[in-house]
Amino acid sequence: MIVLLVTCLVALLCPIVRSADTPLVWCYHKPACNFITWPKIASQYCNGSQQSPINIMTASVQQNPNLTAFNLTGFDDNSTFMSIANAADSVVVNLDDEKIKVQGGNLPGVYNTKQFHLHWGNGSSSPGSEHMVDGKQYPMELHIVSVHSKYNGNVSAALAAKDSTGLAVLGFFIEGTNEVNKTKSWDILTSYLTNIRNSGEQTSDIMNQITLNSLIEGVDRTKYYRYQGSLTTPDCNEVVIWTVFKEPVRVSHDFINRFSTTVFFKDGSASVLNTYNFRGVQPLNGRVVTSQVTVPSAAPPSSTLSVITVLLLSSLYLL
Ligand SMILES: *[C@@H]1O[C@H](CO)[C@@H](O)[C@H](O)[C@H]1NC(C)=O
Ligand SMILES: *[C@@H]1O[C@H](CO)[C@@H](O)[C@H](O)[C@H]1NC(C)=O
Ligand SMILES: *[C@@H]1O[C@H](CO)[C@@H](O)[C@H](O)[C@H]1NC(C)=O
Ligand SMILES: *[C@@H]1O[C@H](CO)[C@@H](O)[C@H](O)[C@H]1NC(C)=O
Ligand SMILES: *[C@@H]1O[C@H](CO)[C@@H](O)[C@H](O)[C@H]1NC(C)=O
Ligand SMILES: *[C@@H]1O[C@H](CO)[C@@H](O)[C@H](O)[C@H]1NC(C)=O
Ligand SMILES: *[C@@H]1O[C@H](CO)[C@@H](O)[C@H](O)[C@H]1NC(C)=O
Ligand SMILES: [Zn+2]
Repeated sequence: MIVLLVTCLVALLCPIVRSADTPLVWCYHKPACNFITWPKIASQYCNGSQQSPINIMTASVQQNPNLTAFNLTGFDDNSTFMSIANAADSVVVNLDDEKIKVQGGNLPGVYNTKQFHLHWGNGSSSPGSEHMVDGKQYPMELHIVSVHSKYNGNVSAALAAKDSTGLAVLGFFIEGTNEVNKTKSWDILTSYLTNIRNSGEQTSDIMNQITLNSLIEGVDRTKYYRYQGSLTTPDCNEVVIWTVFKEPVRVSHDFINRFSTTVFFKDGSASVLNTYNFRGVQPLNGRVVTSQVTVPSAAPPSSTLSVITVLLLSSLYLL
């Protein structure tokens, strides 16, 4: 069932497609084309002012009571994983966007979910998430990419429209754990990596094995950060409503390690293990990150106040 990807399935991950006679367009590691250079070599949008990822500084996050729960349709359906592909810059799972939908969470409408892909470092001890929280980088980050229903599943159309709400990406941090039995679905997912070692390979054997929910098990979906940003690969289009969940998914160290030790990309005639496939954090430029209204934790002021009230009332009675 392994076939070569002749054309790109999703525009998001296309620009890295290379052949012998076309120059390398962008990359993660070479000084001539790494993300420091993107604002110059892919200047249409990568030099913009609403770029992703960002470092989320929790002290500056503003509360927004409108950030309600999501309605995630098809996340419990195991018939939604169409294929898993080595798209050179990442591993991509293509999803059935008629079955998987994201709405709620203050998103302006219904979004059809197209695919998810991952960013990683070099094993669970060398981090590779794109977003950071107070300067902390996690081992990996999962991105679930959805497009507004008005584009009928056509991501290119959303990009062409330069619609700042065209895409909604759900970002999940991944952290290492020793509790292997809790991450059976990650065992299954990462077992397919040996079938897609080389750039351009894909397999659809993954059907009817895994649900999206099983990969993000244990994460409270009502606790997240929200901000306006971009794709994190060229052309870095500023069309993404970002949701970054606060709680990480806990995945066995061994399964995290499989990414940086199994999948390769082509660098000229050489095949190189894919590591550190993340973009560095970008300036906020005045953007505000929001989150749910937090319930005050220990709440000493109000309890002190009620003690005082009780004391006052008691003394009144005494008087
Ligand atoms: C980014 O580059 C584009 C195309 O070269 C240019 O039109 C635009 O003014 C630049 N934007 C900024 C903020 O430098
Ligand atoms: C929440 O939604 C209401 C109604 O759409 C809007 O008026 C208000 O500005 C929103 N609040 C924030 C903090 O965005
Ligand atoms: C969630 O979405 C599904 C499918 O779009 C819809 O049928 C259902 O009514 C929604 N549920 C809520 C609570 O909004
Ligand atoms: C990744 O880690 C392995 C094992 O520690 C090491 O051999 C390799 O050089 C590292 N790769 C990069 C690109 O740093
Ligand atoms: C998707 O949108 C692009 C850009 O608007 C358009 O060129 C293309 O034909 C559309 N594809 C489909 C399958 O409708
Ligand atoms: C994990 O599952 C295996 C078999 O499914 C079992 O033998 C093992 O004891 C379990 N480990 C833990 C820590 O529960
Ligand atoms: C997939 O879902 C179907 C329907 O819920 C179920 O019968 C089947 O056992 C599931 N397959 C796996 C491998 O979990
Ligand atoms: Zn991504």
